[in-house]
Amino acid sequence: MTDPGAGLGGPALLELRDVGKDFGSVIALDGISTTVRAGEVTCVLGDNGAGKSTLIKILAGVHRPDRGQVLLDGQPVSFSAPRDALDAGIATVYQDLAMIPLMAIWRNFFLGAEPTRGRGPFRRFDSARAKEVTRRELLAMGIDIRDPDQPVGTLSGGERQSVAIARAVHFGARVLILDEPTSALGVKQAGIVLRYIAQARDRGVGVVFITHNPHHAHPVGDRFLLLGRGRSLGDFAKGEVSVEEITRLMAGGAELAELTTELERPLPQKDGS
Ligand SMILES: Nc1ncnc2c1ncn2[C@@H]1O[C@H](COP(=O)(O)OP(=O)(O)O)[C@@H](O)[C@H]1O
Ligand SMILES: [Mg+2]
Repeated sequence: MTDPGAGLGGPALLELRDVGKDFGSVIALDGISTTVRAGEVTCVLGDNGAGKSTLIKILAGVHRPDRGQVLLDGQPVSFSAPRDALDAGIATVYQDLAMIPLMAIWRNFFLGAEPTRGRGPFRRFDSARAKEVTRRELLAMGIDIRDPDQPVGTLSGGERQSVAIARAVHFGARVLILDEPTSALGVKQAGIVLRYIAQARDRGVGVVFITHNPHHAHPVGDRFLLLGRGRSLGDFAKGEVSVEEITRLMAGGAELAELTTELERPLPQKDGS
């Protein structure tokens, strides 16, 4: 585990330099640069179609960039499959979470971890130990589940995200990528997930937090990359940008002002017509 104090301006764990990606004639990303450090949260903000998912798919080994470089520990990397990124310690939690609602929490916790320990048909899974590990790891993240045998489907949306985060941290993620983990949640549930993002950060993980909500990003973010139609609208360190500026840059100031005018009620006519 990385020293939690190693963050806060330490060397970059992950770095993007002028990354670009096209889908046919669509320029999904162009000239994107940012940094992810251990024990820090890099937020990627942008509206629908901004290129957020494309960016994380590059980091997760799903897509290869057409331009620019991705560096891990200062070394250029080229992932040809998600497995490569995972082996390098980059874990991604997608919106659908890849969890099975009817399955017990502890089974979901170990789901997908089997390939590294495969020993043919005679492999035995130590369920008592798996339950114990699940309970302990979730407790370390501040989640007190009473019963690891409980189906994942009985957990709240926020708790489910948290199980996915705890799982990634347990299996040794150095970089944890979260694709809009708070977007489908209410205010209270979103707060729970933000707390677990902070927990992962405090354990020394470099977190990439994708969201379109500046109010979710700002309290936990150490760095903010703003995307608009595949271009960078800025890559700021905490303190260099306010939540209002993030909102304004994302909305494209003028467009928002125009919309506000358009939505204003017309003044009532004096003659009542
Ligand atoms: N597999 C793909 N094939 C073609 N176009 C794509 C593909 N993935 C994304 N795009 C396009 O790239 C742009 C960025 O999309 P995406 O990264 O999903 O944005 P976001 O996640 O910010 O909503 C969009 O114009 C989208 O239509
Ligand atoms: Mg997306």
